Amino acid sequence: MKIAILGGTGSIGEGFALRWAEKHEIMVCSREADKAVKAADEYKDRLTNKGLSCSSLGGCSNETGIKDVDVVVLSVPYNGVITLLKSLLTDFNDQIVISLVVPMKKNKWFEYSPPEQGCAALEIQDVLPKTVKVVSAYHNISAKKLANPDIELNYDVVVCGDDEAAKQKVMELTREIKSLRPLDGGGLESSYMIESMTPFLINLAIRNKLSDLGVKFS
Ligand SMILES: NC(=O)c1ccc[n+]([C@@H]2O[C@H](COP(=O)([O-])OP(=O)(O)OC[C@H]3O[C@@H](n4cnc5c(N)ncnc54)[C@H](OP(=O)(O)O)[C@@H]3O)[C@@H](O)[C@H]2O)c1
Repeated sequence: MKIAILGGTGSIGEGFALRWAEKHEIMVCSREADKAVKAADEYKDRLTNKGLSCSSLGGCSNETGIKDVDVVVLSVPYNGVITLLKSLLTDFNDQIVISLVVPMKKNKWFEYSPPEQGCAALEIQDVLPKTVKVVSAYHNISAKKLANPDIELNYDVVVCGDDEAAKQKVMELTREIKSLRPLDGGGLESSYMIESMTPFLINLAIRNKLSDLGVKFS
């Protein structure tokens, strides 16, 4: 599959690039093409140093990256994602768009701060053409753990989406990351439950002097 990671230069984008590069064609994307190329080169070096192979890993601007790809990962903070998507609208057609975006703010503790649509995934679907299939996933995965291919991620990933085939593809991509178990979380309207768990996990970690918590249902 061809996968573009928007904001792939950041914390969690790096992890997806490293974990999927062996099997898929990855475009690390950025608002600045040079920054993306530099990040992609660093990721390639990290994989090579670990003796891991990578099929195709390159860097480019967000605009270039989303053309002719199967999957677009939105690895961008909530406060920039809608403006970014509006600027890229003409380059979207029928891609699967994975939203891991969590709208949250910090007062004394972290709080879920959803838009009027009820969650980030629904707001993102509203902005994009109807032919684009938004799937919501990975909100509760730690960027630090994802970016270390030596770490087995013994967690569950709740996947929400209205297009069944797109949801199945994202569940398949999830299974390719060692020990992650995808769980069908229903339609996109259920995404608020899993988005809102992220500030809860961060607060839990702070209160209990833990870090990088994830979720496992059993
Ligand atoms: N970090 C985690 O553990 C984690 C876990 C689960 C979900 N998430 C979600 O994943 C998304 C990315 O998180 P992150 O921690 O990776 O974020 P980040 O490192 O702060 O940012 C990721 C990238 O987004 C781009 N970016 C930053 N501000 C932007 C703006 N205003 N407009 C457009 N692009 C912008 C930057 O890339 P360029 O400057 O190269 O364009 C940056 O490298 C967030 O929505 C977050 O809620 C994060």
